[in-house]
Amino acid sequence: MIYLDNNATTRLDPRVLEAMMPFLTEEYANAASTHPFGVRAHEAVKLARQQVAQLLGCEPTELIFTSGATEAINLAIKGVADSYASRGKHIVTVQTEHTAVLDVCRYLEGRGYEVTYLPVQPDGLLDLATVQQAIRPDTILVSVMAVNNETGVIQPIQQIAELAHAAGALFMTDATQAVGKMPLDVEQLGVDLLMFSGHKLYGPKGVGGLYVRHRKPRRVKMDALLHGGGHERGMRSGTLNVPGIVGLGQAAELCRQTMKEETVRIEALRDELEAGLLAIPGTRVNGNRAHRLYNTTNILFEGCDSDAMIMGLEGIAVSNGSACTAASVDPSHVLLAMGLNETEAFSCLRFSLGRFCSETDINICESLLGEVVGRLRSYAL
Ligand SMILES: Cc1ncc(COP(=O)(O)O)c(C=O)c1O
Repeated sequence: MIYLDNNATTRLDPRVLEAMMPFLTEEYANAASTHPFGVRAHEAVKLARQQVAQLLGCEPTELIFTSGATEAINLAIKGVADSYASRGKHIVTVQTEHTAVLDVCRYLEGRGYEVTYLPVQPDGLLDLATVQQAIRPDTILVSVMAVNNETGVIQPIQQIAELAHAAGALFMTDATQAVGKMPLDVEQLGVDLLMFSGHKLYGPKGVGGLYVRHRKPRRVKMDALLHGGGHERGMRSGTLNVPGIVGLGQAAELCRQTMKEETVRIEALRDELEAGLLAIPGTRVNGNRAHRLYNTTNILFEGCDSDAMIMGLEGIAVSNGSACTAASVDPSHVLLAMGLNETEAFSCLRFSLGRFCSETDINICESLLGEVVGRLRSYAL
């Protein structure tokens, strides 16, 4: 398999598995137990918390481990909505957010909250004036993703956070596609809540987390979603997933150490692939090419159905926009929000590169795709 679908999930790094192994075998004690075995598990979780905190520039105590980004998003939006309801019931988000954010917002709309779904420009970027106009005195939360999973477009979250704060609202960012791939410092960016998933950064599936600001200039108040044994300072009850958390910590540490050189290497491969694909007539890139994560390219192939292209690309894993939504047959809501029509949205492929991609992978993909596109277009004649 040639794997160019790293925004869907990444391969577990063997060094991460190695760090997890003891906690999947002999070191199985509960991190909440007071005997020496429990203390060892607790210490391992503590180290992982420090490793993630270092990657994000936060305090270890500002992290809540969850089962992944979806849970973290649910906890943050619902928790903040409940907690700040007496101040206001208005939330601002964007049409191109992941469905985890959009669906939670729709759920809250059914419970008396009002949500503004901001449009994006044709290149996928938000216009800051549009954001400013949407924020009202009763806005409690502004939620804008750091990096779009389908196009790689990077939003100006620092400026958006400033706009939110100027109006007294909190700022949250779904950073699932950004954490571990680009430098992110919650202090510098002024983020109040941030979510991520282990499996997007070469860690295991089923683990992720939420950063919640406790430090100045504001302490976020939030109600819990899961009640029980009071784990994670009462914010997420349930026995800790020690092997998963250890893996997440190790994955975060490896990303921190290798980010600089990975960025250069992967960007060069992505650019090579993109140039090769754009040499095929009737193609164009979706999303702002300058404000874009270095691993992603989303390309429209005129007159070619994306499912047919995926079938033709046997042995190569790429995706069409809707891949993140289980078994969806709808056109990508992200591409539609960027102004593509349905036929165009069904003619796009997302290529997302990662740590284990090689030049050979790229070359094979380029030449095979040229053949597939040629074949599909010849059928249409
Ligand atoms: C931007 C973004 N947010 C949230 C999620 C949800 O992550 P998970 O399925 O790991 O909970 C994804 C995963 O596809 C994503 O790309």
